[in-house]
Amino acid sequence: MPNAYISGTGFHVPPRVVTNDALRTEYGIDTTSDWIIQRTGIEERRFAEEGVGTADLALPAARDAIERAGLRPHDLDMILFATLSPDHAFPGSGCYLQAKLGLCDGNDAKFVPALDVRNQCSGFLYSLGAATSMVKSGACKHVLVVGAEKHSAALDLTTRGRTVASLFGDGAGAVVVSATEEDRGVRGWWLGADGRHASVLSQKVWDIKKRNFIPLDEEGRGLVEPSHMWAQMDGKLVFRHAVERMIGALMRACMELSITRDDIDLFFFHQANLRINQYVADQIGIPPERLVSNIQRYGNTTAATIPILLAEAERSGKLERGMKVAMVGFGSGFTWGAAVVDW
Ligand SMILES: CC(C)(COP(=O)(O)OP(=O)(O)OC[C@H]1O[C@@H](n2cnc3c(N)ncnc32)[C@H](O)[C@@H]1OP(=O)(O)O)[C@@H](O)C(=O)NCCC(=O)NCCS
Repeated sequence: MPNAYISGTGFHVPPRVVTNDALRTEYGIDTTSDWIIQRTGIEERRFAEEGVGTADLALPAARDAIERAGLRPHDLDMILFATLSPDHAFPGSGCYLQAKLGLCDGNDAKFVPALDVRNQCSGFLYSLGAATSMVKSGACKHVLVVGAEKHSAALDLTTRGRTVASLFGDGAGAVVVSATEEDRGVRGWWLGADGRHASVLSQKVWDIKKRNFIPLDEEGRGLVEPSHMWAQMDGKLVFRHAVERMIGALMRACMELSITRDDIDLFFFHQANLRINQYVADQIGIPPERLVSNIQRYGNTTAATIPILLAEAERSGKLERGMKVAMVGFGSGFTWGAAVVDW
């Protein structure tokens, strides 16, 4: 059975920087940079321009990862696209990305299958687990795993929506998971979900139990209440569960691999809140220099946070071949996961 390793990383963030102060000055939100930094660590985020979709953000990240893996798009056997902000209700953004990669063009067209993964902030880790299994089983040699989000178009950028709107940003990260006979790669993945809390962090734009699934006015135009249009969150409950589940997932990973935190060189936690991550690190006894963060610059990019972190760490020289790394995430669902990789 081959091992599955990460052969390439890539990322892309849109150029427009939106500082905490800009939320106040440009959008008129009653907030302060101090409030946001103290509670979340976020200083700024990126917002994509009008007309740019989630698959558009994913494309340069995917190309970057494929190129760094020394491959071309036609070498892929599968695309896994994790997002909670797909371009449309359907089809999945993976199909849009597949066409944008040029896979369907010309004589050497290769109709690579594309699967969207809807596991929010844990979407990358769920996809990494799935990709690893596909590679280890021999079904695929190279799987592209993308996490991409365009949150900015779906944030209530008013004072009413400030608690959620101040947290999220746009961006995309990608990795290629490839087969190898070398003794390296993904050593294990651990996933979990607790659907009892599905509504605690959710965006219920429509309700398919009802006909019409979106209420209509007399002329047949859809009407969506603000409380359904925008994401709703019980922040304190999310915070509590995130800490508990992330610690649990990491401890389980260590136990099952018979390793301790000291064997792990770098920790890549989902970037939802710097305070959550610092609390988890303190509880486990992780030294600050081993915890990689970029939430200060990008906010929470949901499925994209971990692959962006990996790509940036590799480019800066912090993440090197031979290191043992742990990834941990938590998000809406509730869903969570961990993975340990020998880089
Ligand atoms: C979102 C979060 C930062 C809010 O912090 P909190 O201390 O729980 O704050 P609360 O929601 O209780 O709000 C406290 C006050 O700040 C206000 N407030 C909320 N957002 C604000 C903002 N951006 N600027 C200024 N004030 C704000 C609230 O209106 C409230 O005011 P009130 O006391 O007058 O009603 C925090 O709960 C959190 O980070 N939770 C985890 C969220 C998360 O990680 N989500 C993604 C998971 S994948």
